[in-house]
Amino acid sequence: MIDRQAWAEVDLSAIRRNVRRLVALAGGESGLCAVVKADAYGHGAAPVARACLEAGATSLAVAMVDEGLALRAAGVVAPILVMGYTGPEGAGRAVAGGLSVAAVSVENARMIAAQAELRGRIARLHLKVDTGMSRLGVPASEAAAAATAIVSTPGAMLEGVFSHFADADDAGSDFSRIQLERFNEATAAIEAAGVRGFARHIANSSAYIRIPASRLDMGRVGIAVYGLGATGLGSDGPALVPAMALKARVTQVRTLPIGDSVGYGRTFVARRASRIGTLPLGYADGVTRGLSNRGWVGFPSGRAPIVGTVCMDQFMVDLTDLPDEGEGSTATLFGPGGPSAGELAELLGTIDYEIISSVSVRVPRIYLDSRLEEEEPC
Ligand SMILES: Cc1ncc(COP(=O)(O)O)c(C=O)c1O
Repeated sequence: MIDRQAWAEVDLSAIRRNVRRLVALAGGESGLCAVVKADAYGHGAAPVARACLEAGATSLAVAMVDEGLALRAAGVVAPILVMGYTGPEGAGRAVAGGLSVAAVSVENARMIAAQAELRGRIARLHLKVDTGMSRLGVPASEAAAAATAIVSTPGAMLEGVFSHFADADDAGSDFSRIQLERFNEATAAIEAAGVRGFARHIANSSAYIRIPASRLDMGRVGIAVYGLGATGLGSDGPALVPAMALKARVTQVRTLPIGDSVGYGRTFVARRASRIGTLPLGYADGVTRGLSNRGWVGFPSGRAPIVGTVCMDQFMVDLTDLPDEGEGSTATLFGPGGPSAGELAELLGTIDYEIISSVSVRVPRIYLDSRLEEEEPC
């Protein structure tokens, strides 16, 4: 039994509706690979993966082998791509688990294929091509040679060729067009070298929505599935619904006289008689110390500022102006009724991706199903 004084609500019908809208954008021309790495950006990998597949996602992507195997252990049989680097130990387990794996170089591909051969299996590889991210992959100019080497490697099959955009969320930048051009040239060169039958994919959420030509055989869509990441999409993007809200109940209220301080370092001192409420979430739950004396939470009757320094497991809010709120009142840290994940991100100088994926495993996820998609057809 979980003592649910703090929890994250995840609306699976919001996920399904977002996926349906995203799938509809491509009109059947491209697949949608739902990116469920980092525990589905904090939402819970297995339930989110199932919701995405139900709504029309054609495959899933994770960052590392163990994430893919956890989905297999949860009974997910859909294709799963491991997008990050896989070493020898992970390679064997990935192949045994039926995962597709990124090959970041010819040596990496050969190593994964050797592990597959040891098990009498074929490694399903996606060659990573670096078109400008400078993170992983072979240079675009070497893609054809790398692909040719991979298809002649025993135990290897070239299932895909992929790349990643560096700033697709910046509508004012021209770099995605340049990256797409480099990628298309690289895949054309691979085909010209006689290698065929692989899937081409480069688009993340922003590119998938904003740049139809980048969808190719499939988009690897993450943040949009969760209803966030609107940067650069303007009002032309599909109406997406944020799927997660972080909530907690006030565990205790203290009345302070003028001059009393709150929390570590005494960074807040009451300038008036104050009602201070304690909420059972802290930086170990993903509520960063950066919100100390800066952020706010939403209550049914209004906003309460965060006062004092955020502790590891708790933080305090000023309830003086909200006489209707007290012990047991529910605060929204982000989500409807509180700041949005995007607003929090802006306050903290980060991105909404970090806000949602930072909600730690200690916070129980509660799955809701508001049947949004049935009420509002796409
Ligand atoms: C290689 C790769 N592809 C796709 C994605 C999905 O990106 P987004 O969440 O912006 O859709 C990510 C996420 O960071 C990624 O690393």
